[in-house]
Amino acid sequence: MTRHFLRDDDLTPAEQAEVLDLAVQMKAERFGHHPLAGPKSVAVFFDKASLRTRLSFETGIAELGGNPIIVDTQATHFGRGETLADAGRVVSRYAAAIVYRTSGDDRLAELASDVRVPVINALTDGYHPCQLLADLLTIRERCGGTAGRRLAYVGDAANNMAHSYLLAGATAGMHVRVAGPSGFDPAPAVVSRAAEIAAWTGGSVEVLRDPFEAADKVDVLATDTWTSMGQEDDGRDRRTPFWPYQINKDLLAAAGSDAIVLHCLPAHRGEEITDDVLDGPQSAVFDQAENRLHAQKALLTWLVAKS
Ligand code: CP
Ligand code: NVA
Repeated sequence: MTRHFLRDDDLTPAEQAEVLDLAVQMKAERFGHHPLAGPKSVAVFFDKASLRTRLSFETGIAELGGNPIIVDTQATHFGRGETLADAGRVVSRYAAAIVYRTSGDDRLAELASDVRVPVINALTDGYHPCQLLADLLTIRERCGGTAGRRLAYVGDAANNMAHSYLLAGATAGMHVRVAGPSGFDPAPAVVSRAAEIAAWTGGSVEVLRDPFEAADKVDVLATDTWTSMGQEDDGRDRRTPFWPYQINKDLLAAAGSDAIVLHCLPAHRGEEITDDVLDGPQSAVFDQAENRLHAQKALLTWLVAKS
């Protein structure tokens, strides 16, 4: 049966651990795995801008012996009449897997609707599950594991990163807290799904308002931009209510001197995170960015082998 990775909870806890184990191995043996030799092609489509996702997929597919086909969709028929379902059917005749960054999760689901090769979410408005695999790999490296570790995500708690921290963190058995200003809370359905997963894995999820309560003694303190792609002109004030959620030395002090700091990047320095924290000794953000490569190589390898 074809396995897709559209949301973090498309992997069970055991499967998520398997992919992360493989990522550890692939990181240690960087050029030693060629499951896409042939080469098999992987098509990577972008409706939105990217640096890390684009380069880590292109590099990773090549390192796996495959042929990356990177497409900015403005140059395709996606936007002018051809349905996403038809496009997916066509692309699956060429490629061993399809990776897609878009806006609505309905667009991703439509692309995947009649496709018999794995489809991977490279960021939607709802979720950023590939990023979370990289984050979990980084947490394993820096904190010695994920199960039982405490993570706080502060900032826009309604965005894709907040949702993915809830789902992927719960899957990994973590204690996940998210905190954002009023009006920027996670979708209730995501919170309840994460709580359901946490009940199996021994983790927990909490939605809080106070950033200091969230950050208190956590192992991992994470944030993201206050204005996600596509929200630039949504008419909401995306600065004033967010200032108390900035990761700066005071909020980091609440976490403690052993905590690590994560940010998926790109960062808006001086907004959601200060320079001294981003460039400081507790920051793991550049390892986190590198880990996109290793985590996605493992994910592609695992999904193609299952399909
Ligand atoms: N973190 C991340 O997904 O970065 P890009 O938008 O540059 O791909
Ligand atoms: N929440 C951000 C993540 C960017 C990697 C966005 O969607 O723009």
